[in-house]
Formats: sequence, structure tokens, C-alpha cells
Amino acid sequence: MKINYQETTSDLLTRIDIHNKYGGRNIDDWMLQLLPLRKGMKILDVACGAGKQCFSFFQALDGDADITGGDVSEDLLAKARQENARTGNRVKFTELNFNQRFPFEDNTFDMLSCCFAIYYAEDIPFTIREMHRVLKPGGHLFTSGPMPENKQLFYDVIREATDKPIPPMPGSSRYGSQILDAMQATFAKVDVNIFENPLTFDDVQPFIDYTRASLSEDRKLWSSFFQGKEDFERMMQAITTAAQRRQEKDGKLVMTKVVGGFVATR
Ligand SMILES: C[S@@+](CC[C@H](N)C(=O)[O-])C[C@H]1O[C@@H](n2cnc3c(N)ncnc32)[C@H](O)[C@@H]1O
Repeated sequence: MKINYQETTSDLLTRIDIHNKYGGRNIDDWMLQLLPLRKGMKILDVACGAGKQCFSFFQALDGDADITGGDVSEDLLAKARQENARTGNRVKFTELNFNQRFPFEDNTFDMLSCCFAIYYAEDIPFTIREMHRVLKPGGHLFTSGPMPENKQLFYDVIREATDKPIPPMPGSSRYGSQILDAMQATFAKVDVNIFENPLTFDDVQPFIDYTRASLSEDRKLWSSFFQGKEDFERMMQAITTAAQRRQEKDGKLVMTKVVGGFVATR
């Protein structure tokens, strides 16, 4: 499946900020608990974006680790490098396209992570085999992604506002099935962990900000919902009205993130 997907820097950062502000739980704490981290280890974070997970590993290991983050987006890498400069340039950031052979030797890393991204790969088994190849024997791959029940409220409100069927999302429609299967086919052992984080909004604005950051014109997945900017704004108005109705009825909006964290052992 070819997916024309490009994350917009401001959209990604908006969503991360909303998770931090309105979520009851911290996903990085959950991830760190699941992973067999130890000082001195060599880590590659694939599709690192602005470096969120790289900096989490760096902090958790008190800076005693060799961490590389790779991404295809120059814009997000620039953000990551900005933060890296602020903290002493201790993480390496590099261009990496996970649809191509990774620019690393076999058996290089103790741990690989790929958070909220593997489902954008053009050929998932290929990308997972590349991850397996560059891991040392006994090394671990951590992936995270949305499960089918993820952010039900978001889809319910959009369906109510537009009366259109939701297109299958590359993440939530495949992560817990096709992608888990591909990991199980390549790795000796895969443990499945689930993280639930209710985001509670007392008014509609942050929910609308989140919706915009998930649906903006740059995200080609929603092309059947709107054509161009004006149409997008009309749809956002209908979504706002539907969200307001629910908020008035229930006094708040609760959107629960349901995330799978798969830990594979090579
Ligand atoms: C939802 S973001 C997640 C970023 C980061 N892991 C995080 O959790 O903040 C998805 C990431 O996948 C990256 N990505 C998409 N296609 C890619 C490709 N072909 N190779 C490498 N990274 C890619 C995007 O640039 C973006 O940084």
C-alpha cells in the first residue's frame, strides 16, 4: 500500500502538547517501564520526529547511552537538532527513510524503537526485516501505535458531523493485526502491552485543536471529506457544532487514547 503521508511539524507538536496537558497518564513513563534499558546501550529511534523518544531515553539513562534518531522529514529533524543543541548535542540525528535499506551494518544496536510511525511504511515486512537486521541478537524492538479502539470520540464526532464513513486509518485499522503479525513473523518473541490514557476536555476548543492537527489539509487520508481550504473550514464548523452538543450534554469531552506497545526480542 502506498500512502502519501507527510507529518506537519506544527501538527505533530500540537498533538503532543494536548496529550501532555489533558491526559491523565504519561506515555513516555509507560514506554520506559516496558523497556530493558541499561546504561551504555546503543539505541536507534526510527521515525524519531522532533526527537521525543530519543530525549526520553537520554534522560532515563542519565546521558550514558549512544542514541541515534533517524527520520525522513528535514523539518522535524531540524526541530530535534534545535532541542539537541540546547541539551549539549548528545544525541545523533540523521536522515533515514525506512522504505530503504537502513544505513547501518548488521547487528549494530541493542535496542530499536519506532513510535507512531511503522504503519506509514510502504512495505511493512521489509521495514521490520531491516529493523531485525540492524539489531544485535537478543536486542529489542519497541513499536507503538493506535489500537482499533483508539480515540473513539474523535471518530464518533466526525461521523455525526459529516454523516460519512471514516476511511480506514493506516494505524488503528492495522497496527494490532497486520503489523503485529509482521513483527511476530520476523522476531522470536513479541510481548503485547496496552496503554489507555483518557484526555479530558472541559470545553471544546482543545478537542477542536486536536481535530485540526489530525485532519489538516496536509493529511491526504481525509481527501474524501473535503476539497480545499474552504471546504475544510465548513467541515470543521460542523465538527465544532457536534462537539459542542456533546459537551453540553455530558459537561465534558473524554477522548481515550488506546495504544499498543509491542516489545519484540531478536
Ligand atoms: C506521528 S510522527 C511520530 C514521531 C515521533 N516518533 C513521536 O512519537 O513524536 C510519524 C513520523 O514518521 C516519520 N516518517 C514518515 N515516513 C517516514 C519514512 N519513510 N522514513 C522515516 N520516517 C518517516 C514522519 O516524518 C514523522 O516524524
